[in-house]
This record gives sequence, structure tokens and C-alpha cells, in this order.
Amino acid sequence: MTTANLQASGLRFSPEAGYLSGMPTRAWFSTFIYHEPLLCAGQARFNTELAAECRNLRDYDAAGRRWSAKNYPGGYTSYASLNQLHKFSSTFAGLERKLTAHVRRFAAQLDMDLRGRTIAMTDFWVNIMPEHAAHSLHLHPLSFLSGTYYVSTPRGCPGLKFEDPRLSKFMAAPPKTTGVRPANQPHITYPAKAGHVILFESWLRHEVAANRIMTARISLSFNYNWS
Ligand code: NI
Repeated sequence: MTTANLQASGLRFSPEAGYLSGMPTRAWFSTFIYHEPLLCAGQARFNTELAAECRNLRDYDAAGRRWSAKNYPGGYTSYASLNQLHKFSSTFAGLERKLTAHVRRFAAQLDMDLRGRTIAMTDFWVNIMPEHAAHSLHLHPLSFLSGTYYVSTPRGCPGLKFEDPRLSKFMAAPPKTTGVRPANQPHITYPAKAGHVILFESWLRHEVAANRIMTARISLSFNYNWS
């Protein structure tokens, strides 16, 4: 098939993209994950102040601490109590504006057509994970793009582990070879890096392993929807 025919058929022709080197096999239906610094520089002091604001929220949020004791053992999350922080705090409203720019960029990389449509942050909450706290496999319902901004990530704290969304369909597949190519890995863990934002489609399951160090890991999570 020529390039012109491919384009006419609605397929995109890119000789390099997706081919395994030297093989007739090509990758389709990719899963995209976005990982970038929120700003080019100057986040360290901001994050120190932000971490203090997160701890203040925890101290103030009795309902959230009660909910966390049942549903987020050992840690604190404002997911079920103060979950629209961008509407109540100027710090979080400023972060929302910066995050939205990244979300738009990610949506463009996913070829989502948002012309004439609006996107909005629907939820924005704090997670504080001291030693032993973990967050088991989950996804983010009622949204299309989700992500996390890392505030405080002491050395050795756990990253964010994603699962291949097709894993349940691999019932009869043999194990992967030791030299498995990145695109064929069933899981990928992104290290948590303060000042960085990570974005993913909300249906992509992920988890955070138990924090094995004595210092708390602090992050902000958020969801976006479109209309
Ligand atoms: Ni999550």
C-alpha cells in the first residue's frame, strides 16, 4: 500500500512509529502516560510551602482523617472530604491553571478533539502517605483524564505503578522473557518525583506500594472531565 493509499484509507503512515525493529510486526492500541515537570524551574520552595499547607489541611480535616482511618490505613487523603481544593484555596487554584495546560497538551497527544468543548478539573485532593501506608489498585471513575502532582517525595518512597489494561485477557499467555521490550511489559512503575506531574487516562488501573521509609510522601491527585 502506498503512502497516499494509506492516508486515503484513514490510516496514518509513519514508517518508524510502532514497528519492532527489523520485524514485520507493528504496535497498535497504545496506552499513553504523560510525565513532565510542572514548571521549568523554581518549584522547590513552592513545594515546601505546599507540603505545609497539605499537613495543615490534614490537621483541620477531622472528617477526612476519620474516612482515611477506615479506607486509607495509615495515611491521610482528603478524597472523600476536601476534594475540590481548587475552589477553596488560591494555592490550589493556581496549580489547577498550570495543570490544565498539561492536561490539554496530553489530550492533544491522544488526538482528542476538544475544539468547541471545555475541560474542567472536577476533583483535587491531598494524599499523605507516612511509613507503611499503601494505595491498592484502583481507577478514577466519572472522569476522562486523571493525574498526580508530587509535592514531597523523600528518597526511597514508592512510585506509581500502572497495569497493562489488557492483563485480564492474557489468561493463556506464557510468561514474558527476561529481556521483555518496554512496550510488552505488563506493569510500569514511574518514580515519584517532586515537582513533576503525571497524567493518564482515568480508566488505567494503578497503585502505590507501601511506603517503606520513615518520611511521608505527599502528592495531590486530580480528575478532569469534558463537556
Ligand atoms: Ni489514583
